[in-house]
Amino acid sequence: MEHHTPPLLLMLLLSTASSSFQPALVIEMAKILSENYCFPENLFGMQEAIQQAINRGEIQQISDRKTLASVLTNRVQGALNDPRLTVSYEPNTVPVMPQMLPSLPTEQLIRLVRNSVKLDILDNNVGYLRMDRIFGEETAAKLGSLLRDDIWDKVANTSSLILDLRYSTAGDMSGVSFIISYFSDPEPLIHVETVYDRQSNITKELWTMPSIKGERYGKKKDLIVLTSKRTMGAAEAVAYALKNLKRAITVGERSAGGSVKVEKIRIPQSAFYITVPVARSVSPITGHSWEVSGVPPTINANAKEAVAKAKSLLAVRGAIPNVVQSIADIIERFYAFTDRVPALLEHLKTTDFSTVVSEEDLVVTLNQDLQTLSEDPRLIIKYMPDNADTVEEGDPALDDVPEDYESLEALVDSTIKVEILTNNTGYLRVDKFFKLSDGTKLETIVAKKCGSPSKILKTWLLICAITLVDHLPLSL
Ligand SMILES: *[C@@H]1O[C@H](CO)[C@@H](O)[C@H](O)[C@H]1NC(C)=O
Ligand SMILES: *[C@@H]1O[C@H](CO)[C@@H](O)[C@H](O)[C@H]1NC(C)=O
Ligand SMILES: *[C@@H]1O[C@H](CO)[C@@H](O)[C@H](O)[C@H]1NC(C)=O
Repeated sequence: MEHHTPPLLLMLLLSTASSSFQPALVIEMAKILSENYCFPENLFGMQEAIQQAINRGEIQQISDRKTLASVLTNRVQGALNDPRLTVSYEPNTVPVMPQMLPSLPTEQLIRLVRNSVKLDILDNNVGYLRMDRIFGEETAAKLGSLLRDDIWDKVANTSSLILDLRYSTAGDMSGVSFIISYFSDPEPLIHVETVYDRQSNITKELWTMPSIKGERYGKKKDLIVLTSKRTMGAAEAVAYALKNLKRAITVGERSAGGSVKVEKIRIPQSAFYITVPVARSVSPITGHSWEVSGVPPTINANAKEAVAKAKSLLAVRGAIPNVVQSIADIIERFYAFTDRVPALLEHLKTTDFSTVVSEEDLVVTLNQDLQTLSEDPRLIIKYMPDNADTVEEGDPALDDVPEDYESLEALVDSTIKVEILTNNTGYLRVDKFFKLSDGTKLETIVAKKCGSPSKILKTWLLICAITLVDHLPLSL
């Protein structure tokens, strides 16, 4: 096996007393961090801490290189509170430069695209687009119109889309802007993410594009993004932005929590490597990032069941326009406070249903909006999946009065209460009104219950407690 360390140097390192190479190693490591670590502000005070550790002789005592690597890892992670920083001892590693995608021959690039992107049109013109890699600007430029003709233009014709990023583990951040643009309107432009690259010391803002080649999907049609615990990198940036812009509902598992860019850098003159995140990202929408912590889904589902879940979600969401229209019709035709109707209808038209994921959700959203606006707690929408056929016609609050005397008496007992309180104050509570009937039975019972109608009228003061039974339930 080939050693990348010059043999002479290696021999020198091995032969030196084990107490002398560590300080140099640690100082080199600190230098790499200060030139590459994406949170340079967190390195403040590091040099002093290292010098102190060296002076105390702590590191010099560790002669086993693997042990030293793990001790350094613990120290660095602890000091900077970043689990991505690791130090390793790899005497047999031959460093390889990762091959950049755009330098692949076009033929190979096309094969890669065909292998990593799959589009199906499901029932009801639902698009299913699985992307295992987010292609960057350079690749897109190199492939010309291939991506547009084969994928984006076909997707644009679907009625709703499931974007499957469950297997997307690689990609290029420069492709994020395009995808978010495709699912947005040309205006207003949206600031998607800010990426700081430590090595170039450049901060770059990712924005949506004012114009893209081909047709946009726009932001009206439903979009479900699937994620799994393997979803990583640029795909996480896509899911995070679409979710937080409320452009997509994400379904599946919390994503991996990768990084914009991590590099494994060899510590000079040694077989030690330090893995360093060299760029960082922050979302202007949340002030946070998908890095390390990942993207939690809107709806949790086992990755295996995510497609089925997405389909049922699209079915629910597909029903929203009809439900809202029916409610608008009912309000327009039946709501008694006609002066409030125009505002209610306008409100229904402008309500944001983008985050509704279930019938229950829809009912909550509708009720909040309707009731705030009408200031009428009786204007209520209910979802009754099991009783859909048993909705009664007419006004259920005004029951017919039972025929037989006993049930009539029981009904009166349970709905009317009469009392004379202290100081001759009358208390009359009525929970229900009855349809007027011509028979005298009802009057007799009420008279009997009140003693005699005149008894309560002779009180000094009458408290009437009338419980209004909610009536007029609208049902979907
Ligand atoms: C999309 O639909 C339009 C009109 O329905 C049609 O002209 C166009 O060819 C379709 N594009 C694709 C890529 O299927
Ligand atoms: C990075 O750039 C900023 C200005 O954009 C400058 O103030 C700062 O000193 C630079 N930092 C390094 C380490 O070069
Ligand atoms: C009852 O009424 C009398 C006279 O109206 C009044 O003086 C007295 O304070 C009242 N008592 C109570 C408990 O309300």
